[in-house]
Amino acid sequence: MAYRNLEITNRGAVNVITVNRPDKLNALNRETLNELGMAFTQAAYDDAVRVVVLAGAGEKAFVAGADIAEMHGYTATQAQGFSRAGQQLMTSIERLGKPVIARVQGFALGGGMELAMACHFRIASEKAKFGQPEINLGLIPGFGGTQRLLRLAGRGATLELCLTGTPITAQRAYELGIVTRVVAPEALDETVNALADQLAAAAPLAARRILDAVLEGGENAIDQGLAFETQAFALSFSTDDMREGTTAFLEKRKAVFHGI
Ligand code: COA
Repeated sequence: MAYRNLEITNRGAVNVITVNRPDKLNALNRETLNELGMAFTQAAYDDAVRVVVLAGAGEKAFVAGADIAEMHGYTATQAQGFSRAGQQLMTSIERLGKPVIARVQGFALGGGMELAMACHFRIASEKAKFGQPEINLGLIPGFGGTQRLLRLAGRGATLELCLTGTPITAQRAYELGIVTRVVAPEALDETVNALADQLAAAAPLAARRILDAVLEGGENAIDQGLAFETQAFALSFSTDDMREGTTAFLEKRKAVFHGI
């Protein structure tokens, strides 16, 4: 499928989705949101894809936010639709059932930070900058930023970032628990690829259940999360992957998982 604002490549079982509007610092207009929705749906249904890497084209930005030029003319009703579309995209990424890694080399601002936070891993260059600067536009985050940042980094950091609008360094984002790993710019691809390869070789059904259990537990009381975990654990015993993993251990060889 041809996209106007995305570039899609595959490296083995790793699907790389790159937002490709570098002249606009990869800002998310409505068309790009729609295309991302389609690309992630395709990744979800393609059994050959085990991991997704989400990136931004060019050196300067992962994604510098929702498209301000497009939003400028929105009515409140259009803004509501835009926010809903953005939130649906972020939720679909979070609930993809396959690990998603955000590769962040530059600005991850506004909708860009929200997009990165919907991913399961954020690997950032030391040069990356994170922020929720919507308040400087008389706006608030609309793609889940007030909620996902709260869950990732707590109330203090969320209020600081959203109320001041001031971007923070990748190192500070790491200290706040927002970023998974910070690396030198020249080590970014190597680090992302190594993590993606490790995740691609992991048992995919177990990966899906871990993602589901963590998301379920994050939003509910611990008893509900524990009950979900027990069901998911028990279900693992019906898979060939579980037989393969335990047999390979006992035979002192490396397991090969097929996701069945
Ligand atoms: N929406 C639309 N266009 C954007 C954009 C956004 N969020 N962020 C950057 N762009 C565009 C700029 O308008 C400019 O386009 P032009 O060349 O046609 O004028 C181009 O991308 C390059 O950006 P520029 O501002 O010239 O780069 P810079 O290096 O001087 O500044 C930033 C970089 C990230 C600090 C600055 O672009 C910025 O503040 N962007 C908005 C961030 C934001 O508020 N995001 C939240 C939106 S809700």
